[in-house]
Amino acid sequence: MNVKKVIDIEEAAKENYTQSEPWPNNDMWHTCTYNILNKYVQKYLDELHLSSSQVILNAGCGKTTYKTPCTIIYMDIIEDYVNMFEKYLIASVEKIPMPDSSVDCIICVGSVINYADVQKAIAEFSRILKPGGTLILEFERSNSAEFLFTKKYAKTVFVQKYQYNNQIHYLWMYSEKFLIQLADYYSFICKRKYRFHILSSLLYRFGVSEKRSAKYSKFDDFLQPCSYFFAHNEIVIFEKNIL
Ligand SMILES: C[S@@+](CC[C@H](N)C(=O)[O-])C[C@H]1O[C@@H](n2cnc3c(N)ncnc32)[C@H](O)[C@@H]1O
Repeated sequence: MNVKKVIDIEEAAKENYTQSEPWPNNDMWHTCTYNILNKYVQKYLDELHLSSSQVILNAGCGKTTYKTPCTIIYMDIIEDYVNMFEKYLIASVEKIPMPDSSVDCIICVGSVINYADVQKAIAEFSRILKPGGTLILEFERSNSAEFLFTKKYAKTVFVQKYQYNNQIHYLWMYSEKFLIQLADYYSFICKRKYRFHILSSLLYRFGVSEKRSAKYSKFDDFLQPCSYFFAHNEIVIFEKNIL
């Protein structure tokens, strides 16, 4: 009988990130990803005009901070990434040690949910977020051009092995449709989407190196209309339904 090897993806992530920084140095693709995320999240936070009495959870924060008048709670599975912050939690997005309806905004970007059981994570986000609150979520998509002409393309869910940070990382890959439907089940209304690494993923698929193809992410704004079929990453802004 052919039994599939079961990998504990969260444990593998914990082991990898304990031995490394959240983002690798000298890696053009991930430097671009980090810059796109930072710029988009900071811009969106500015637009939200949150006040000093409000609370943000930065879930799977790594060492990333944002400018905001709010209180930020930094949460990660790696203690060394968060113990320098005033308010921090060492916990997984699958089980968040916070009360129901206790935060106004959740930021979960940098492929954090690709390392987790997405159903548990989205259920937890829905539980701790106040009605009308905002979830800024980013994930890596199975609809990526990286998988074009393979059986994996746009598949609901599968596990992909990556070489990242000079380590082997295992990521759950999700189709956009699956993720949005799951979020809808947990009372999240999709307000806005931004897909990125569009042309870069396509070039990478056809043999251009990661380093060279990453530079083409500069065309992402312009390529949004055809992004559904090719983009590797996506940021989705959700609002938790008031009802
Ligand atoms: C690529 S880093 C991104 C860090 C940060 N979100 C950012 O955008 O800069 C991925 C992060 O996810 C964290 N992580 C992985 N699995 C997690 C889980 N189940 N719960 C919380 N954090 C997790 C890792 O420790 C790491 O800090």
